[in-house]
Amino acid sequence: MTPNHSSRIKERLRYKANTLSRISRVILLSIASRVKEITAMASGYGFYCKSLAGESRFSPAVNADLSVSCNCADSDGSGVLGNLSESGLQEIWKGPIANKFRHKLASGKIPILRCVTCQDLAITPKSQASLMEHVDKVPASTVLLENTAACTLNCIACRRTSRPLKKMHMSLSEMEFVLIELSKLEVKTIEFFNLGEPFLSRHILDEVNLVRQYLPEVELHTSTIGMFLSQEKIEAAFKFNLMFFSLDGPDGKTATRYQIGLNFDQAITNLRQLVVERDRLGHKMPYIVWRYVIFNWNDRQEQIERAIEMAKHIGVDAIEFRWAMSPPWGISFRFYVSKFWKELAPIQGHSRNLRFKTTTYRW
Ligand SMILES: C[S@@+](CC[C@H](N)C(=O)[O-])C[C@H]1O[C@@H](n2cnc3c(N)ncnc32)[C@H](O)[C@@H]1O
Ligand code: SF4
Ligand code: SF4
Repeated sequence: MTPNHSSRIKERLRYKANTLSRISRVILLSIASRVKEITAMASGYGFYCKSLAGESRFSPAVNADLSVSCNCADSDGSGVLGNLSESGLQEIWKGPIANKFRHKLASGKIPILRCVTCQDLAITPKSQASLMEHVDKVPASTVLLENTAACTLNCIACRRTSRPLKKMHMSLSEMEFVLIELSKLEVKTIEFFNLGEPFLSRHILDEVNLVRQYLPEVELHTSTIGMFLSQEKIEAAFKFNLMFFSLDGPDGKTATRYQIGLNFDQAITNLRQLVVERDRLGHKMPYIVWRYVIFNWNDRQEQIERAIEMAKHIGVDAIEFRWAMSPPWGISFRFYVSKFWKELAPIQGHSRNLRFKTTTYRW
């Protein structure tokens, strides 16, 4: 078989895996949505959205094309409430789309399939739900800011390409405009990524400098695959409080079962270089976490112990093992039931974390 032929087969398999993942997800969510509606109706309950009521920790999300989504879970664009190029954040939050969502929820209906698995969906007696319909404070404790929606990888369950975005990159002037808007709110944390690779941006240093100019005290977090962290972009990395490095295996062969297109060795080299530079210069930031998303092909004791050894050797501050529910056929049961996992670390949310340093950072 020629290399061309084999890469065509791989491309086709990848496409099929992605399509299958999407279809199975839509079917499961549709069933779950109906079940939720029927159960709520039968017991006299309605819903409300913590995000639209101003109570969420993780919203809103400002996407690369300046559209504003209800929160970070909006991976298909169905949660877009408006666009900052047309109206301000406060206006969008009180606008017709947000109000329609609130109204549907209060009457016991799920407005979009995303709500089914969303941490911001709340159930409450119908009388209370109808009161929540009129709460429209912008939450803004943690805002997602997506400098770019571009990426060179095709991770199997990533919904990066499922959104109807008008453009893939936020320009510097647009970023400045957004930051001025955010500076009117009490933003504590900016998650500087959404569904793209933040370090692909050629202007990342200017972008984070703008964040520091307009929101000097904000906690700045990001997540990266680390492949594009060149020497000049390391300067930008030092401006973050917290950085996740997404590497889903202890070696390239394992990681690329999900992270298709990842150059594992390059990513590890860059990660190591960042740790070395940070420590050499005596910088306190960023706190560096290896984020290892868990599937049923990378969850064995031997693999995990190898990753932990590597993480310690590289000198990262912590490793996070994050359980994934997507793609459905990749779900790991060992993560919840095996003795090894139970003894490794307690569950926090959907993760088990190991911290290697005395200095710590809460995420
Ligand atoms: C969509 S990525 C965008 C940022 C960057 N491209 C990256 O991969 O780190 C955001 C986060 O989602 C995580 N992630 C990717 N696939 C996941 C899955 N199936 N389940 C849970 N988290 C996942 C990644 O590890 C990353 O921290
Ligand atoms: S997906 Fe639904 S519950 Fe979640 S933030 Fe959006 S509207 Fe609210
Ligand atoms: S690297 Fe991040 S943005 Fe890119 S495909 Fe993977 S999860 Fe999605």
